[in-house]
Formats: sequence, C-alpha cells, structure tokens
Amino acid sequence: MSTEPLLVADQLTKSFGSTVALDRAAMGVAAGEVVAVMGPSGSGKSTLLHCLAGIVTPDSGQVRYQGREVTAMSDTERSALRRGEFGFVFQFGQLVPELTCLENVALPLRLNRLGRRAAERRAVEWLERLEVAEVAGNRPGEVSGGQGQRVAVARALVTAPKVIFADEPTGALDSLNGEQVMRLLTDSARHSGAAVVLVTHEARVAAYSDREVVVRDGRTRSLASTA
Ligand SMILES: Nc1ncnc2c1ncn2[C@@H]1O[C@H](COP(=O)(O)OP(=O)(O)OP(=O)(O)O)[C@@H](O)[C@H]1O
Ligand SMILES: [Mg+2]
Repeated sequence: MSTEPLLVADQLTKSFGSTVALDRAAMGVAAGEVVAVMGPSGSGKSTLLHCLAGIVTPDSGQVRYQGREVTAMSDTERSALRRGEFGFVFQFGQLVPELTCLENVALPLRLNRLGRRAAERRAVEWLERLEVAEVAGNRPGEVSGGQGQRVAVARALVTAPKVIFADEPTGALDSLNGEQVMRLLTDSARHSGAAVVLVTHEARVAAYSDREVVVRDGRTRSLASTA
C-alpha cells in the first residue's frame, strides 16, 4: 500500500518569460487535510495552486493525484479530473451573474449531467449548510460579498470533491465575514472529507489550517501549524 499523500507536487519549476514563479517547489496534501499556502505577494502561491489543480502545466517537475501523474495527462483527462474531483473558490466568487444563487450552485451538478430537480435539491442543502438559503433566488449582484463567497463555497462543495482549491477566498471580505466564510468552508470540507489547499496572506485565515507551507521566491518550506 502506498503512503503517498493524495496530492503531491515535486520539484516544480515554472517561469513566465524571465520571471521565475516556481523554483523546485514541493508540497503534499493528505486526504481531508487543510493546508495553508502563505507568503508575500508575487512569491508564487497562485502559480503553485494552479499547478496542483492542473490549470497550469509546470516547465519541469511532477504533480501526482492519487498516484496518477497530472502533469502527463492530456487536456481532456485534466479537465475531467478538475470537474470530477476538484472544487474551486476564488477571491471574488466568480458566480455566473445571470443565474440565481441556487442555479449557480446547481450548475456543476448539471454539467455532470444530473437532472434539474435532483441538482437543485442538493444545491438547497448546501446553501442551507453555508447559511445562505435565504438568497437562493437572488442573483449574485443582489447579495453581499460574504453571502456571495458562501454561495461560491457551496458551489465548490456540491459535487463532493476530494480537494478544494481556495485562492484568497476571504481577501475581499471584512474580518467578521472572512471568519464566517473560513469557519463554514473548513467545517464543510471536514464534514465531507475534502482536503483544502488554501492560499492566504493572513495569519488569521491560516489559523484554520492543519499545516502551513510558506512560499518565498518560488521556493516552498513546510511549517508545523501554530494553531
Ligand atoms: N500569467 C502570468 N504571466 C506572467 N507572469 C506571471 C503570470 N502569473 C504569475 N506571474 C508572475 O509570477 C510570479 C508569481 O506570481 P503568483 O501569482 O504565483 O504570486 P502570488 O504569490 O500568488 O502573489 P499574490 O499574493 O499577489 O497573489 C510573479 O512575479 C508574477 O508576476
Ligand atoms: Mg496570488
């Protein structure tokens, strides 16, 4: 039996022109674990997250998910992996403005070919868990920032992903709303057994993690959590 973590980045290097974004970066994420990726602006955090999630292909090095080499997959295989196994939450929810919050949360299930009734029933359950059931019928332009992020978290979790990738999910919120989103995000992920890769600048947000990885100039360093 393998003891390798669920998701592994090994010796990742990535440059954009002459800018070195990642320089032999490495990290692992165990099933169900919440890992905070911290570091100064421009240090390579988002690039590392994008490589782990199969959105960006590194110049060299490997990403492995459940022992499968993501970096060697075709585009089709990689998008199937993202759609089936991963969930995403970004700084600004990136909800579809024309759809209601309920339809936004149901959308990934619809894309996975679940019927409308069943998809919306499950979406309602997730809106309730994230304490935003009251905005189900509103469009994203008609909810607060904190509510929008909680809808985005519901959308990320609705497909029961194995890994949630969150890049500054509370970066646009005040501290009270930020704390609430983090509590609900980490509680929900733990409830459904999903691992979380959480990019953040804020020590307060990182305190919700099990472990921290610090990125500096594209290099990674692991720290035991101080939380
Ligand atoms: N698509 C791109 N094209 C060119 N340069 C890029 C691109 N993406 C990232 N970079 C550069 O790579 C480096 C790492 O960027 P990255 O976005 O990973 O940093 P970050 O740690 O997420 O920063 P922030 O905290 O500001 O979001 C930076 O110097 C950035 O300017
Ligand atoms: Mg970033």
